[in-house]
Amino acid sequence: MFVLVNLKTYPCDPVDVAEAVRDVNDATDARLAVAPQAAHIERVAETGVETWAQHVDAIEHGSNTGHTLAESVADAGAVGTLINHSERRLKLADIDGAVRAAERADLETVVCANNPAQIGAAAALGPDAVAVEPPALIGTGTPVSQADPDVVEDAVEAAANVDSTVSVLCGAGISTGDDVVAAGDLGAEGVLLASGVAKADDPHSALEDLVEPL
Ligand code: G3P
Repeated sequence: MFVLVNLKTYPCDPVDVAEAVRDVNDATDARLAVAPQAAHIERVAETGVETWAQHVDAIEHGSNTGHTLAESVADAGAVGTLINHSERRLKLADIDGAVRAAERADLETVVCANNPAQIGAAAALGPDAVAVEPPALIGTGTPVSQADPDVVEDAVEAAANVDSTVSVLCGAGISTGDDVVAAGDLGAEGVLLASGVAKADDPHSALEDLVEPL
């Protein structure tokens, strides 16, 4: 299972969490990675953890003030990027452009979507993976695998109908190892999570609990 920890703009120490993700990754068969804010990518990547960006824009080098260039996050040490997170929604053409920009910079891509219909559309753009996250469950601690298992199974089917090479992750409310196992049982190849780790008093032990049953 792939466990991607999104730090959003939570007030945690990104390097402390990155070191915890790195150490727990080294002690398990699961693949763990962390997505800090763009300004923290370089410091986080220096810990040796697998580092992702939270967003890149559909742009190239040039006159694009205030945008995030895929090549720059790659230069800073990111190896992948989220695109179209629920808290950073893009228009369809911009999702497509961001996937192309990420490919150009050799970044792995996870395109997020609210529901199975959007997952089908996202898979058609050819990312490496898609992630289904019902916005209403984000940050609630109620896992999508429990509150809405159909949405995960339907997302897996929707992606497979379009492109069987695109992996499916799920996210929202995931904070325990049982939640991760349940996501896998529903067909997801990984999970996207944030508050369960970024807001934990002890991120290292929160991560250990997450991967313990894997
Ligand atoms: O990107 C992960 C996400 O939106 C889920 O957040 O806090 O419910 O794990 P959370």
